[in-house]
Formats: sequence, structure tokens, C-alpha cells
Amino acid sequence: MPRKIVVTSALPYANGPIHIGHLVEYLQTDMWVRFQKACGHQCYYFCADDTHGTPIMISARAAGIRPEDLIDRVHKEHAADFAQFHIEFDNYYSTHSPENQQLSELIFHRLNEAGSIARRDVEQTYCESCKMALPDRYVRGTCPRCGAEDQYGDSCEVCGATYQPKDLVEPRCATCGATPVLQTSEHYFFKLADYEQQLKTLIGGGHTQKSVANKLNEWFQAGLRDWDISRDGPYFGFKIPGEENKYFYVWLDAPIGYMASAKNYCESHGLDFEELWNSPDNELYHFIGKDIMYFHALFWPAMLMGAGFKTANKLFIHGFLTVNGEKMSKSRGTFIRASTFAGHLNPESLRYYYASKLTDTVEDIDLGVEDFINKTNADLVGKYANLASRSGPMLTKKLDGRLGRLDAEGRELLDKLVGAKEGIIQNYEGLNYAAAVRTISALADQANRYVEQKQPWTTIKTDAEQTRVTLTTVLNAVKVLAIYLKPILPVFTQKIEKFLQVAPLSFADVETALEDHEIGRFERLFERIDEEQVHTMIDESKEGQAAQPAATPAADSEEKAASPFKPEVTIEDFMKLDLRIAKVVTAEPVEGANKLLRLVLDVGGVERNVLAGIAKAYEPEKLVGRLVVFFANLKPRKMKFGLSEGMILATGPGGSDIFLLSPDTGAVPGQSVS
Ligand code: MSP
Ligand code: ZN
Repeated sequence: MPRKIVVTSALPYANGPIHIGHLVEYLQTDMWVRFQKACGHQCYYFCADDTHGTPIMISARAAGIRPEDLIDRVHKEHAADFAQFHIEFDNYYSTHSPENQQLSELIFHRLNEAGSIARRDVEQTYCESCKMALPDRYVRGTCPRCGAEDQYGDSCEVCGATYQPKDLVEPRCATCGATPVLQTSEHYFFKLADYEQQLKTLIGGGHTQKSVANKLNEWFQAGLRDWDISRDGPYFGFKIPGEENKYFYVWLDAPIGYMASAKNYCESHGLDFEELWNSPDNELYHFIGKDIMYFHALFWPAMLMGAGFKTANKLFIHGFLTVNGEKMSKSRGTFIRASTFAGHLNPESLRYYYASKLTDTVEDIDLGVEDFINKTNADLVGKYANLASRSGPMLTKKLDGRLGRLDAEGRELLDKLVGAKEGIIQNYEGLNYAAAVRTISALADQANRYVEQKQPWTTIKTDAEQTRVTLTTVLNAVKVLAIYLKPILPVFTQKIEKFLQVAPLSFADVETALEDHEIGRFERLFERIDEEQVHTMIDESKEGQAAQPAATPAADSEEKAASPFKPEVTIEDFMKLDLRIAKVVTAEPVEGANKLLRLVLDVGGVERNVLAGIAKAYEPEKLVGRLVVFFANLKPRKMKFGLSEGMILATGPGGSDIFLLSPDTGAVPGQSVS
């Protein structure tokens, strides 16, 4: 019996480009959907842009356009990015849609009827110059606990304190710098605690992965609090019915966007939305990242329960992408946009790499650049493409492109491949793509070994018909592998289908061998990647950062203001710098470098040689005896003019205006600066 399955991925925010971190999720989901379709099930994949909220309103203002225009533009960009990675939605819609408005109102109305909506006054931070209530992340100021400056309104990144914007010392509006005022306003709340029992039953019944259930238990123990679901205007979102200046908070209508996308699809395809979405005979799955678990494991199912809709069969949660073991970073060039990647490399190489890493856990997954290059070259080129390219063209050129019949030995090899089918199916179904890939690549090894043994390039000169039998086996192996890889490598599989002259393959075709069959022209399948291409892509991602629009909001918090500074570093990063007071012992010009001075520093009894670019500002002899702040553990750098063992810190616009420490600070060489 074919299953009827509805699948969603989280809706990306409509104010930033799709990057390789997002792609973990959309590729994981796309592969699952393609797998279900290849098994003959009816599977629908719905998604949309998440278009509402303060960051989008502010980004649009900053760009001098209407939010509607911003989200239209981004919608086109996102659709193009997804298409390049062969992510095939049945509908990619928008939360700014009539269906979403209608469903949001319906659900809100039903929750209200159920008594799950409360209203009460809250104190909110308001900017009189921007004329808007400020989300916590749009207020900045000094941390009330540790005194760190320029912290967000909800928490301090230095000492970890959490508080409210009004607790900040000298709070400022992050957009305009004005001092905000406090204002009382009535907000709507969703009484989450009403659903505690039902939620516990849901989670206890295996709604999410086990490791996540523990985290959820902590939340249950902490107690479920009312959820503030309204925002005062101006706000880009849906107006709350009956209110003049109140809107649904973006996270209320965002998950409803899953339904809106499905509804829009049903309407244009003559399907019954109520049946498709809500029938207990149909399955429903949400794919999300671990950062938005709270919304999807608690608020969302509670909303559905309260409004009389069924909840998903499962919530599949994945971890975050790291690159070379670290968080994606704009300065390192590892914050790579989907479009940049596709401009340099074959998107199927990323699909395969992610598949080889994905499991059913919430562990982060790492993109190791070396590993990625090796895996692409070893597996895609060396195993799969190689198997096809050393059998197909020979059959076409030397044997009229006709497959013969399998012999016993050929059947034996194919039986091994066919026998792996159930295991591979289970691995895909259970999100253990890494295990599926391991099996498939081991099967490809066996097939390649068969070719080595059979030496068709030799036998073709002596025994054409035996060679035809060999190639028939190999091409049947290619066919089975292509089916197994179809969810991961749709384009590769399509090329194989075309070249084998067969209808689109599915898992049901694994057992039927191709015999006495004519094949078509062979097309090149994969190209080797060289390191240079990857480095160029990374360099381009570094340069791209200046052109980046407003920073995308942090997914786990309401909103994050764009920062005028370089990418954030943590206090731990900063603590790695060893800053010392040093005394200039000697200073002399450097021949051939008119900006440089060669300095010998006394850092509390230890001497260091430094080349400093301050020749325009200081006469060398005047520097002798002066104190400077010295960056002592900077990696020594070999320059054209000698080794520089650190760096002195100075400030100023450059040229002749560079300032060192004032001479009378009373600091002692070697002393640490903190
Ligand atoms: N708009 C919300 C989701 C609303 S769903 C009703 C949002 N958007 S997002 O653009 O920030 O993230 C979209 C999805 O991509 C989320 O599931 C998120 O976890 C995932 N990822 C974003 N960055 C990621 C990585 N670096 N690594 C893996 N997944 C990541 O959250
Ligand atoms: Zn302001």
C-alpha cells in the first residue's frame, strides 16, 4: 500500500541568503522525500519563506523599500538557490499569503474559544525616535551584572547574565542610538501550560529523538510559561482580528505557514486540504534544526492540539553544520552561500558529502574541506563514475551498444548488490544516510573489483561475446547503484537512466536485470575537484562579506540587530591575546621599507624583535625608552625584512597620526594589560 506522506522543512527567514548551513536541513529533507517517492509512496514536500517580524521590517527600511518588495526579491533568490541544489519542493510558498492569514486567524480563534488565550499588560521598551516597540535584541547597553558594554537587551555575552532590556545600564536603541522609554501595553498570551499533560504524552511517545526528550524534560521541570504572541505596530505581520495596532508575533504564524503552503498546493491541484493535512491515514513529518526545538516541540504541537488539528508523526531534529570543526565564519570564508558554492562546485558533491555524514542524531555535522575533496574524488569520480565510464563507452564503441545476458558469475555479483536493498531502505527511512552511503560505496568497490578481475579492455581483443557478458554485469551493477543513490544524486541517476535508455528508476526496479537491451550515448558524470577550486570559493566568501545585507537574525532568539563591526568574537577568543607592556630598547629605520621601523623591545626581561609600520609617525630615536602595548603571543611572521615576533598596538588614522601609550602611565615592562 503506498503511503501518503506530508513533509516540511523549517521556513528560512526572508532577509538573508541560503547558506551551506541551511542546506544541511533542506538536503536532508529533500533526500528523504526523494527516497519516499522512489519507493512509490505519495510524498509531498512543503516549505515557504518566513517573511514577518521586526528584522525584515528594519532591513526593508534600511534598503528604502517596502517589506513586500524585500520578501519578493528574497523569495526569488531562495527559489533559485534551492533549484541549484536540486531541492524539489512540491510547493515553496510564503507566510505573507492569504491562506496563512486565514489559517492563523482560524487557529487563534479556536485557541481563544478553548480558553487558551490570555491578555495582560506588559512593560515594553519603546523608541520614540523610531516610533516602535523594540524587541530585546534591538536594545543595547551595559550589562547590569558585569558592566560589559554594548550588550543585547536580553543577555550578556560576556558574563552570561540574562535580564530584561530595562535592566541595562544606559540602554540605547540599536537602530538609532536614542534612549528608549518604558511603556505599558496589553499583550496576548498563549497558555502553554494548559497542554502540559498532552505534550508530555506526545514527547513520551517518541515524537522526537531520545536525546532531545531529555532536553524537553528539563523544560517541563522548569515549568511551561505563557507565551507572548502579540506585538504592537508598526510591525510587519498579520493584524490580530479586532485590534487596531496589534499583530501576531512572527513565530505564531510561521509554523502555520507549513499548512498554508499545503493549502495553497491543494487548491491549485484539486486536492482536499483538510484530508491531506489532517487525515489520520496520512503521515506528517517536520524537519528542523536543534536551535528551534522549543518552538516545534512545545508551542507548535500545543497550538495544533488546542485548535483541533493532528500533530506530526515525528519531529526530526538535526544538528548544526561546522566547517573544519568550527562554526561557520565570515572572516574565515566558511560562511558560504549556496549560490557561491554552486558557482564553483557541483552541488551534487555537497549532497553526497552531507549524506555521508548524516545520521538520525542531533550531533553537529562537520564539513572538513580536505575530507570533502577526498570523498568527492574517491567516491563520485573514482567509484561510481569510473564504473560506468569503463563499461558503457566500450559497449557502445565495440559491441554495438547492446547488452547481452548475464552468466552465473555476473548473477552472483548482482545478487550481492540486490541483497543490500532492504538494509539501505531502512537506513534511508531511519535517517541514517551515512550508513546507506557506506553500504553503497562498499558495493561499488565490489563491482569495480569485478571489472579489474575481468579485464574487459583485454578480453575485448580476443573474446567479444565474453566481454559483452562482463559489461552486461557491470552496467546492471551501475543501474542498481544508481537506484540506491537516486535520493542523494538525482542528476547523476538521471544521466544513467538516459544512457541506459530506461524509464525513471525506482526501488522496485532493483531486482529486474537489463538484458538484451540497447543503451544510448554515455555522458560524463563527475569531474574531479582540485583544492584550488575550493580555495577560490572560500576566498570569494571572504570578500563577499562586505556586500552582505543586514545580518540574518539568530534563529533561536526573536531578532538580532545588524552590527557595524567585524564578526563577533567571544571573550574566550579575546582572552587568548597576551597583551603586555613593553619598553622600546632600540629603534631604527629599515632599508627599503619607508614605513617600517625595526624595534627591539624589553618585555620584562625578555627581548623581542618587531617590525612596526610606524616610521611615518615617529622618529626612531624619540621612541627609545617609550612604553608600548605589545601583542606578545602573535604568531611570529617572516617578512621580507626579517622576522617580526609580535606586534605593538597603536591607534589613529595611520600615516603620521599614530599614537602609542602616553609616557607617564607608570606601567612596568612585562606587566600584563587587561
Ligand atoms: N524562520 C525560522 C524557522 C521558522 S519554521 C516555522 C528559522 N529560520 S532560519 O533561516 O534561521 O533557519 C532555517 C532552518 O535552517 C532551521 O531549521 C535552522 O536550524 C537551519 N539552520 C540554519 N543554520 C544552520 C546551520 N548552520 N547548520 C544546520 N542547520 C542550520 O529558524
Ligand atoms: Zn530608535
